[in-house]
Amino acid sequence: MASFDAIIIGGGPGGYVCAIHAAQLGLNVAVVEGREALGGTCLNIGCIPSKALLHATHSLHEVHENFTKMGLMGGAPTVDWAKMQAYKAETVTGNTKGIEFLFKKNKVTWLKGWGSIPEPGKVKVGTDIHDAKYIVIATGSEPSSLPGVTVDEKIVVTSTGALSLSAIPKSMVVIGAGVIGLEMGSVYARLGTKVTVVEYLDAITPGADAEVAKSFQRILAKQGFTFVMGAAVQGVVTGKTGAKVTYKLRKNDSEASLDADVVLVATGRKPFITGMGLAALGVEILPRGQIKTDAHFATNIKGLYAIGDAIVGPMLAHKAEDEGMALAEIMAGKSGHVNYGVIPGVIYTMPEVASVGVTEEQLKEQGRAYKVGKFPFMGNARAKAVFQAEGFVKILADKDTDRILGCHIIGPGAGDIIHEVCVAMEFGASAQDLALTCHAHPTYSEAVREAALACGHGAIHA
Ligand code: NAI
Repeated sequence: MASFDAIIIGGGPGGYVCAIHAAQLGLNVAVVEGREALGGTCLNIGCIPSKALLHATHSLHEVHENFTKMGLMGGAPTVDWAKMQAYKAETVTGNTKGIEFLFKKNKVTWLKGWGSIPEPGKVKVGTDIHDAKYIVIATGSEPSSLPGVTVDEKIVVTSTGALSLSAIPKSMVVIGAGVIGLEMGSVYARLGTKVTVVEYLDAITPGADAEVAKSFQRILAKQGFTFVMGAAVQGVVTGKTGAKVTYKLRKNDSEASLDADVVLVATGRKPFITGMGLAALGVEILPRGQIKTDAHFATNIKGLYAIGDAIVGPMLAHKAEDEGMALAEIMAGKSGHVNYGVIPGVIYTMPEVASVGVTEEQLKEQGRAYKVGKFPFMGNARAKAVFQAEGFVKILADKDTDRILGCHIIGPGAGDIIHEVCVAMEFGASAQDLALTCHAHPTYSEAVREAALACGHGAIHA
């Protein structure tokens, strides 16, 4: 039993970042986490392990596709799945242990166990009840369920099971062409699995710029993906060694089915806020299951705050981190702020897909006057040298003021090069500001500058 300035429930990117920053600002902070390791979904069963598998399988893809072109001869390596899984596990542990170290360094207390809130200002962990002036819910999200589909995490899996399959399947049906489906689908497609994606909508990656989505789908199809679009999954029947997925095509209501060794259900996530006693406390919950907060992350209960996937907004680790930083500032008596207009989104496939700001479709909907500057990676020397010249950079700018409104990239290093546009947007920059900034040659980032030039008198290399 102890007393803290702030107790944060949940040790994921939202919670741990909030805790460390609050401690930096002089608060006495504890984090309640019931998992064996800190880092939440992202570090343990999300962003980080998936990136390890994406890296390993991309390396294999490079061997198959490009090595002989560069004079690197010899047979392709065989895949030791157990060893690849061990590499993934080591990557995870290295990161989760890192958070433990940061907690010690910043004097953040880890209260091990699952927390609940018996009354305002109190957090119960096991049999202990602790006091806190501020309580922060940063408990994240869990996969949404789909009617008619029972997940066993062996044959019918969510992203969690997909990261740790006992063997590489011969075939996989992915339900949902969102970020999880396409990232994990890429891992297995590169390992030789026949991947079929069944998607309800007519385009992949919901909410993405339509041109990018179209180009992305074409590239993935070339990589071996099969897409069944406009198809609503009706149910999954599991057998001894595989499963049957039935779906209905929206255009004519016809039913069809697909058999696969493994079915990945990737149809979205929902806030994970059960078991904390929120209903008894009278915490307001929105119709879609998120905790209702004001612009300063405060719930309707005094001293109770919430951030990350548990509240509204994109379910992204870095959005949660930014909210954690801002809330730490608020709890320390300063002013914290998140600019929701400049939150990048990245899909870590090959090529990567990245975006920030509005899409062209949103601008059309808003009836706003805009201009488009586009540059293909075919005109980028560095991309061509490494066989990654597919894709493009697209910058959207205000027609009159030239202010950058959005950027959408499909191509090499997209997830990194998007950030110069994020910084530019934070400073309210114009496309010309980017175009007048010297960019090192040869880099992928030059494609961003060229797209900015294309908003003015035109790109040089296109
Ligand atoms: P998502 O919301 O990105 O995509 C789900 C897809 O499933 C949609 O395209 C939807 O139309 C489709 N769908 C829904 N019901 C269906 C049905 N019955 N039949 C066929 N298709 C159906 O969800 P996803 O991929 O599960 O990701 C969950 C969350 O995790 C997202 O918010 C995502 O941003 C986040 N995430 C982010 C990552 C990143 O930033 N790289 C990586 C992984 C997850």
